[in-house]
Amino acid sequence: MGIFIDEAKKLFTLQTNKSTYQMKIGKLGNLLHLYYGAKIANEDLSYLLFDGESHFAPYPHGTTNRTGSLDILPQEFPSCGTGDFRSLGFDVENSDGTHIADLKFKSYEFLKGKYKLESLPTFYATSDDTVESIKITLIDEISGVEVRLYYAVFEEKDIITRAVRVKNTGKEKVTINKLQSVVLDIPQGDFELLHFHGRWAMERQKEFLSIRHGMISFGSNYGVSGNRQNPGFIIMNSKTTENHGECYGFNLVYSGNFTATAEQASLGQTRITLGLGDSSFAWVLKQNEIFEAPEAVMTFSNQGLTKVSQNFHDLIRENLYKGEYVGKSRPVLINNWEATYFDFTGKKLISLAESAKEIGADLLVMDDGWFGNRNDDNRALGDWFVNEKKLGMPLSELSMKINGLGLKFGIWIEPEMISEDSDLYRSHPEWALKFPKRKPLLGRNQLVLDLSKKEVRDYIFKLLIDIFDSVNLEYVKWDMNRPISDWYSNGLASVNQGELQHRYILGLYDLMEKLTKRYPSVLFEGCASGGARFDLGMLAFQPQIWSSDNTDPINRLNIQQGTSYLYPISTMGSHVSISPNHQNGRTTPFDTRINVAMSGTFGYELDVEKLSDTEKKLAKRATEKYKKYQNLIFEGDYYRLETLSNLTAWQIVSKNRKKSLVTIVATELVGNPPFNYIRLHGLDADATYESNGKTYKGDSLMNAGIRLAQSQGDYPSEQIYLKRLN
Ligand code: GLA
Repeated sequence: MGIFIDEAKKLFTLQTNKSTYQMKIGKLGNLLHLYYGAKIANEDLSYLLFDGESHFAPYPHGTTNRTGSLDILPQEFPSCGTGDFRSLGFDVENSDGTHIADLKFKSYEFLKGKYKLESLPTFYATSDDTVESIKITLIDEISGVEVRLYYAVFEEKDIITRAVRVKNTGKEKVTINKLQSVVLDIPQGDFELLHFHGRWAMERQKEFLSIRHGMISFGSNYGVSGNRQNPGFIIMNSKTTENHGECYGFNLVYSGNFTATAEQASLGQTRITLGLGDSSFAWVLKQNEIFEAPEAVMTFSNQGLTKVSQNFHDLIRENLYKGEYVGKSRPVLINNWEATYFDFTGKKLISLAESAKEIGADLLVMDDGWFGNRNDDNRALGDWFVNEKKLGMPLSELSMKINGLGLKFGIWIEPEMISEDSDLYRSHPEWALKFPKRKPLLGRNQLVLDLSKKEVRDYIFKLLIDIFDSVNLEYVKWDMNRPISDWYSNGLASVNQGELQHRYILGLYDLMEKLTKRYPSVLFEGCASGGARFDLGMLAFQPQIWSSDNTDPINRLNIQQGTSYLYPISTMGSHVSISPNHQNGRTTPFDTRINVAMSGTFGYELDVEKLSDTEKKLAKRATEKYKKYQNLIFEGDYYRLETLSNLTAWQIVSKNRKKSLVTIVATELVGNPPFNYIRLHGLDADATYESNGKTYKGDSLMNAGIRLAQSQGDYPSEQIYLKRLN
């Protein structure tokens, strides 16, 4: 049992194996939050609530005794007009122009298994999970606005998910201006926020901010989740480390605009919110209509940040993506982008495939430039017709020849886009998102298609399936290369334009759902100018996402480690590229590029024909090694190791603790270097492990650590494989 209800005490207690979450219906019917933290018994924690005078703060409607201000009490779903001046979960404009929703408890209902949403992706339960769900309904009796809060408890995984549906049961239409999927009030503590910011080619850089009096607000107005901020974040006590201390992780199953806030309120309480982006958001809800907000996911750990990451990793690996690649090994890719950019022919791709075969690759990806008049990035998006003249052969012939070499065939698409210089734009300019009577803002000389329109989605779907059906296609790289700026759809009335940002994402999910359902065995990989749409919404359809256009292994350390706080490494597209690197010009050793790329979905992004014989041999060995260890890398527990500042190291341990792979990369070398010991984690303390002919006890490796050699040269790296002997 994960959900306990005490009707007499009006308590809802959610129990995972290691955490407890408690809510209570307050005296006046408000849903209050009592606790989220380390596991405790189903005890009534209402004694924690402050019941003194709320000095000079408004107290609830109809009361006069100066207590119970909603600006002070911890709430589960604080809404507008009720005297709570902190960041809110819900803001609604009623038909008379007022912003108030005085939400009071109406009912609750147990739901079997894991709840679902109709319009948005959600986590699901497998037969190995114990999952229970509950729906708690709140209502504003005057407007008839009804809010249904959904909670699911994944007991063994220490995960709680939340979602919200709003129904207008009143007669008058209302407009939702803000709807957050998570609000979490913690009564006391000075927390640090660990969030992940970035930019093109430097995605998900970790940064700590102190949550003090004043609001930290971050999010995306990019149209997609974006590379500026990731919707996933962690809050922690200032003393929390990778392996010790309390912390909470949050993320959103959504690929569009989002807003997150963290603030410390006047009496030292901390409030966290996360949900749909609220800038320019306005959703009109008529009588009996329902609006769904995206699902959010939360986890608590009192064993440090690594545990939060591992809880997220297990859930994302097992409970999100539904296609045939669940638990299946992934092909090693060779992608022609950095090898050729737009300058390729069918013949060139075939010879690339031939040489890729020599190093053991499984799949050739034909990147951008195979369609329409697309010989540079200024044109032809939307013209999804094979350019046979450029390829020098039909696509079917090319794919057959690639298959004939023993490689699978995959292609790049960017289906959400339209170039001004395209046949599609010439025949359907009204399909692009742009403001009326104004010139649109261009990004990479392209515009975005209005995916809120069914006719647009149907047209693109038809074009793509014609291509997909014409070849033996086994992989698709789904790209999205510009932020969305001109939010206007000529398919929506002016009063509904505030719905467009969300309707775009609904349209995107609809298109992806149709394509991934029709091609269940095709491996879809997400991409958005590298990793500008790395989120749980995309991962529901695509098990892997190209992490960054930056393939420099040293920059990749921060990008991939940053990503690992929230997402498993099995989701991170990560390829070996040429040196000096195309993005930053850095020269690095071939084996360091290999060792870094191995902690992800491994592949190559270079012209194999140009490699030296020694490099080819190294690459062949690397591909074999990756295939040997792929299960361990994809399914094992991931640890970011504590090291001296000139090193980055991480460790993967199989769930049965029989195998472990440790990778160490030196980012800076000094003369006469200090001693360097690294402690490992997750091993069996009593067992003996073997590596390179030497044996070590598990407890020695974890407590005393290993001593690293004093390495020389630029950016050396090392991989240590440990095998349990007994
Ligand atoms: C984006 C992607 C690259 C490549 C190009 C093609 O930048 O991130 O990997 O596919 O588009 O135009």
